[in-house]
Amino acid sequence: RAEVTFYDAVGGEPTFRKLVDEFYAGVATDPLLRPLYPEEDLGPANERFRLFLIQYWGGPTTYSDQRGHPRLRMRHAPFRVGPAERDAWLRNMRRAIDSLGLPAEQEQQLWEYLERAAHFMVNTLEE
Ligand code: HEM
Repeated sequence: RAEVTFYDAVGGEPTFRKLVDEFYAGVATDPLLRPLYPEEDLGPANERFRLFLIQYWGGPTTYSDQRGHPRLRMRHAPFRVGPAERDAWLRNMRRAIDSLGLPAEQEQQLWEYLERAAHFMVNTLEE
């Protein structure tokens, strides 16, 4: 059975690499988000996020081979993710998605997932 995954349809690894590179270029200078990242080098966080997205959309399962079950809410528990952090995250993600120039339907599918996931990751309602 020949099945074209969303991962393949949007261009495979290079597309997710560009998405996450653009996203982290924004995070690197974001006054709200940058302090949340524990490591000085954003490279390892970039790689984890890229591998997660690749796996989620039907590409290689390298993320879980290395990290196990994603359990993303649990993994975000150490970080303060309030409404302001979520909105900053989504602003950077919107810019990153726009840089890809994907067909509207694919762009919409990607955005809807990430927007939903970002709301799900909020772990404090304090401002
Ligand atoms: C890890 C922040 C939303 C996926 C992290 C880390 C921070 C963070 C500080 C630790 C960096 C590291 O890996 O060392 C945030 C904030 C969000 C957000 C402020 C705002 C809502 C999301 C969403 C997703 C996601 C929506 C998925 C769609 C990941 C993944 C990791 C991660 C896969 C690495 C997990 C691992 O340790 O294997 N995030 N995140 N994050 N985040 Fe987020």
